Amino acid sequence: MDEKKIPSMEPDRQYYFMNCCKELILQRSREAGRTLTYNVQTFGCQMNAHDSEKLKGILDEIGYEETESENADFVICNTCTVRENANQKLYGHLGHIKNIKSKRKNMIVCLCGCMMQEPHVIKTIKEKYRYVDIVFGTHNIYKLAELIYRYLSSGNMVVEVLEKSDNAVEALPQKRKYRFKSGVNIMYGCNNFCTYCIVPYVRGREKSREPQEILDEIRCKIASGVKEVMLLGQNVNSYGKKFDYSDGKIAELTENQNVRFPELLNQVCKIDGLERVRFMTSHPKDLSDELISTMANNPKICKHLHLPVQSGSTDILQKMNRRYTKEQYLALVDKIREAMPDISLTTDIMVGFPGETEEDFMHTMDIVERVGYDQVFTFIYSKRTNTPAAGMDNQVPEEIVKDRFSRLLELVNKKSNERISRFSGMVKDVLVEEINHQDQAYITGRTEENVTVHFPGDANLIGQIVPVRLDSCMGFYYLGEMMR
Ligand code: SAH
Ligand code: SF4
Ligand code: F3S
Repeated sequence: MDEKKIPSMEPDRQYYFMNCCKELILQRSREAGRTLTYNVQTFGCQMNAHDSEKLKGILDEIGYEETESENADFVICNTCTVRENANQKLYGHLGHIKNIKSKRKNMIVCLCGCMMQEPHVIKTIKEKYRYVDIVFGTHNIYKLAELIYRYLSSGNMVVEVLEKSDNAVEALPQKRKYRFKSGVNIMYGCNNFCTYCIVPYVRGREKSREPQEILDEIRCKIASGVKEVMLLGQNVNSYGKKFDYSDGKIAELTENQNVRFPELLNQVCKIDGLERVRFMTSHPKDLSDELISTMANNPKICKHLHLPVQSGSTDILQKMNRRYTKEQYLALVDKIREAMPDISLTTDIMVGFPGETEEDFMHTMDIVERVGYDQVFTFIYSKRTNTPAAGMDNQVPEEIVKDRFSRLLELVNKKSNERISRFSGMVKDVLVEEINHQDQAYITGRTEENVTVHFPGDANLIGQIVPVRLDSCMGFYYLGEMMR
């Protein structure tokens, strides 16, 4: 390869490598007498799922064809490390992939995502998983083509994990799961350092994208059929704060960066052709009155807020470094409900944080009882190496945690069933997503409150927003009938 020909600027550089890969993949598929296939496995949150769409865009571009099966020519696992079981899942999965690789000539195995940002993981892979071919982290996913090219031309394991983001390159292909809805990153990283959480270590410091860049991306997506966008960030309410990388301090804002989250939402809503806007995740400490009124006054913004509470105990919240009390959280919920009475509230709750007493846990039960969430994602606290909580005294014994977890689950299910039934008999706009998995005569969609509805209909309606009467509440979902 003539090094001088490689563009130094992005995204040209990546398009250059995509072309180089294209030739090599074409050659390999001619030798094999068939199109080569790829499979992407996603382990993490919405951010990771969106990153996977970027990986798929590049793999399509260089000539691979997607398959649902891991028995493929290129397998990539986009990993998560937020809890220990996410790590275990990957190692289990790798054993299975090793088996496939032993029977499949020229198969390429690639690992990326949050777990790869941990030095001990890289060490283990280099020592024990030698059949892995390409490894990279969260800061350089845009370089997939360059890394594949490097592997194809050397045949050696390629490992490139960066400690922090140089500059995320955005203008690259993306392949959406759904034609009519899409995630859009508005910021990367997290500066909150909740004491249990590994995300700030593996995703780096918070950094907001320029508003203009976000708006352009959304306009472009609408032109290709998108009706609903989900704005993504670990803490969207702090969008627009400019942080200095080196010490986490807030630096001077330029005029353009002076757009905060409510203003960004307003600008996004003005885009013609866009029908629905969602966002996640909101940190309760940063949720402003301005955001509440922006949501209440803007019909395009879906009336759904994911507002992770984590625990109902002020003591535990303080040890978690969440920076709000039980009372402040409840007052915030009241304010939100006053402005939008029917809004759907969802949350994340963790049990078994170090030092959690029965009394602390009862405060968590009390929050669930009082708020009435539409949905609660429940987790057992998992010790993450190098986070402050991992070194705290009084780790809670497993039997106690399991007992609390099942009591919590019972209450959560009862309360969310009660809450979701408030829509019984109402007619709601539903964005149709797909044919029902169990019954082909039914289609499945979501209301703005993120409630799933199944109703009779056909594939022509996929991607359309239609009025549906919500007839029977079946716990977490509805059976309904279209009203036109
Ligand atoms: N940025 C989001 C959360 C991202 S992680 C927020 O602040 O709400 C998603 C969820 O995983 C968290 O809300 C938390 O409930 C859970 N989680 C994070 N670290 C965990 C740990 N060490 N053990 C168990 N659950 C954890
Ligand atoms: Fe983790 Fe807290 Fe950041 Fe959410 S806000 S990603 S829980 S550190
Ligand atoms: Fe997991 Fe990374 Fe998301 S650790 S939860 S995939 S940000």
